[in-house]
Amino acid sequence: MVKSAKGALLSTLEIDRNSRIPIYRQIEDFLRQMILDGVLLPSQKLPSSRELALELDVSRITIKSVYEQLNSEGYVQGKTGSGTFVSEGLEGETPVIPSLSIIKKEYFDENFSQTAGHISFSKASARYGSILPFRPGVPALDKFPIKRWNKYLSRATTKSSITNLSYGDLLGSQKLRASIAYHLADSRGMKVDPKQILITSGAQQAFVLISYILMNTNDTVWYENPGHIAGRDLMQIVGGDVAPIPIDDEGLNLPFAISNFPKPKLIFTTPSHQQPLGITMSLQRRLALLKYAHENASWIIEDDYDSEFRYRGRPLPALAALDKVGRVLYVGTFSKSLFPSVRIGYVVVPEMLMDAFAKTRNIFGQTSSAIVEEALSNFMDDGCFAEHIRKMRRLYRDRRDILLNELQKNCSNNLTPQKTDAGMHIIADIKNGTSDRLVHLELLKSGIDSLPLSIYYLGPVQRQALVLGFSGSQKKVIPKLVSKMGTILNTFQASN
Ligand SMILES: Cc1ncc(COP(=O)(O)O)c(C=O)c1O
Repeated sequence: MVKSAKGALLSTLEIDRNSRIPIYRQIEDFLRQMILDGVLLPSQKLPSSRELALELDVSRITIKSVYEQLNSEGYVQGKTGSGTFVSEGLEGETPVIPSLSIIKKEYFDENFSQTAGHISFSKASARYGSILPFRPGVPALDKFPIKRWNKYLSRATTKSSITNLSYGDLLGSQKLRASIAYHLADSRGMKVDPKQILITSGAQQAFVLISYILMNTNDTVWYENPGHIAGRDLMQIVGGDVAPIPIDDEGLNLPFAISNFPKPKLIFTTPSHQQPLGITMSLQRRLALLKYAHENASWIIEDDYDSEFRYRGRPLPALAALDKVGRVLYVGTFSKSLFPSVRIGYVVVPEMLMDAFAKTRNIFGQTSSAIVEEALSNFMDDGCFAEHIRKMRRLYRDRRDILLNELQKNCSNNLTPQKTDAGMHIIADIKNGTSDRLVHLELLKSGIDSLPLSIYYLGPVQRQALVLGFSGSQKKVIPKLVSKMGTILNTFQASN
């Protein structure tokens, strides 16, 4: 079915009437880039010249000449009587990572802040867009108990809970903070007073608050390398001097970090399950890291994004559970344990910082909803959350096993998958040194949404590998797609 692009054009196409660049060129460049970036899809219908002219307050002739130009370049096709459509056969032009930078560089430099430039070129935009099998970090959305959740949501919106229609508590719902404190004691060995918990709209908002409250421009930030892209880019954008710290078999390489980048202000780490390599930080390393942070007045951000999913043995308690002096800011999220669009996360903060966090959250926008907060609290207190996690653990373990089996059967000439006992993805090294980005692109054409490991690196890339999510991939599709993957990888082998 053909979808109208009218909405998309209206919301993001802004004409700068003071610019030296003629209006028709601004519109042309914008549409061309939208097509190249895959935002406008092959066969998608563009608004009629009359509609677009009205919406942009330009003459119809301007739009007609834009469409004619794009037609002559092959980007669009006019069909008499039906309108103008994005040309087919442009799929190959879609970039590795969906990009939101849809405006030409010179125009960008002239009109946007440097911060917007940094943000625009972040590879973290990979978080957006449609989700296909093997996209890392995606939970089993098909198995979420939607009906049950809806009951909780609707109860949180009734007349008796009418205050939920207002802004809610400055720190997030008190009830939810108590539910989270209970969950942390039960599952992560943390004794936390609910007063120390601040609700955010996901882990990313927690990182934003932390960076604004605790970091000054040019402060050193230790960041695991490879590491979580969105958090790292944020630290750079906010002005931190991000120091890439390699990972060894005990986790973040502390001796390397101390000798190369001493006395950091912030230390970002994922000790339960290193993102993306999957290493669990050893107890010795945890203790040494805490000691160093204490002696050097550094703050540790512990990102515990997917610790619920461990398939063998008991998890180590959180790093924060070992922290006796209050140097760890523990960040949790429901994006993995429930679903990302719930947009609820939290940060456990030493009490003396709480006021600053509350005020900053207020100024930056209270982006979580009191309705969802209340629904989630009741969902947790009634045991539905724990039940869901247990079910997902079994399901993800099965999906992981099938994926590993199929990779062994179909891709052993080309890939060396690393077995994992935790998390939602596996890493599969590419044997013949082929660029993981090229492989990623080729696989994407067949509906296989892996990510190249190289995009997680800051600076030189150490490994060419695919990051393959199993949690969000249905069992029935895995064998067929992995077999396809094997065929595609063989073509790379042959051309080497
Ligand atoms: C390492 C890591 N931390 C945190 C998050 C969650 O971010 P949010 O809670 O903002 O959805 C993700 C999601 O992709 C992640 O990969």
